[in-house]
Amino acid sequence: MARKKIALIGAGNIGGTLAHLAAQKELGDVVLFDIAEGIPQGKALDLSQCGPVQGFDAKVTGTNNYKDIAGADVIIVTAGVPRKPGMSRDDLIATNANIVKSVTENVIKHSPDCIIIVVSNPLDVMTYCAFLNSKFPAQRVFGMAGILDTARYRAFLATELGVSPKDIQAVLMGGHGDTMVPLPRYTTVGGIPVTELIDKEKLDAIVERTKKGGGEIVNLLGTSAWYAPGTAAAQMVEAIVRDQKRVFPVCAWLQGEYGLNDVYLGVPVILGRNGIEKIIELKLTKEEMELTHASAKAVKEVMDVLDNMNSVTA
Ligand code: APR
Repeated sequence: MARKKIALIGAGNIGGTLAHLAAQKELGDVVLFDIAEGIPQGKALDLSQCGPVQGFDAKVTGTNNYKDIAGADVIIVTAGVPRKPGMSRDDLIATNANIVKSVTENVIKHSPDCIIIVVSNPLDVMTYCAFLNSKFPAQRVFGMAGILDTARYRAFLATELGVSPKDIQAVLMGGHGDTMVPLPRYTTVGGIPVTELIDKEKLDAIVERTKKGGGEIVNLLGTSAWYAPGTAAAQMVEAIVRDQKRVFPVCAWLQGEYGLNDVYLGVPVILGRNGIEKIIELKLTKEEMELTHASAKAVKEVMDVLDNMNSVTA
């Protein structure tokens, strides 16, 4: 059986972390692509030298030539400019939309059957940009945000409760940003509803910290996070190449689900070899539904900005 081929467009911080994890887990052979000369080649060489120590034989190569991504099964797009302190994700839109557009054109040319996972920010809108320009079915174009956001939430909760983060399960909805909708009702700790273990005030504070979790790291590092984003994206790649049917919150194209149409938004899905195999519709309360719709409205406003930039959608 031929090995899976995983192409990473953008060999920056997230691309590098993702390449390492993908090779280490032997998810397939990894091609790192970047416009910066030397960077993908250098990182690939460095990473391939982890193989003898860590005991993996996945090939890791680096390139500046799109021809080398030909026939990839899964392509993860992290190309773009990361957020700097004081910059909102939306400030990034024009720059990153042009980058994601040109990346997508090359991706569809060389790997017309691939699944595209977008990581570049502003996430929901960059995923939309890849969808528009690829003309792929939406099942094969989606974004990584929910696993990262729930990971932050689960990590904060684990610390607060003094329990293993492995035992915390959670789902959240909505856009990747301040309007995300955590659902404490669906958070459990070893099967126990979290609301039985923590008072409302502390939980609300954790939810607020989660919403601003990306910004907290930008303020400390001077650039956006990469370890957890790369790890979250690797988990999605694994679910696809191993056809695991994992249930994750993923930024998906909605066509009537949750009463929403034509918008990319974080929702729980089943992820397997075909990409998004099913969007799961939770029975939300009136308040949760209102928050989800408010989040969709905020995402749509940025999508409209993109729709009005003819150069990006034409
Ligand atoms: N094609 C390919 N690669 C590109 C292009 C392009 N047109 N434009 C920029 N790049 C590359 C850069 O050369 C850089 O190596 O994208 C890489 C981005 O890497 P970093 O700057 O290290 O950013 P990273 O931390 O990996 O984040 C990538 O994900 O979470 C988001 O906000 C984040 O949008 C950012 C993206």
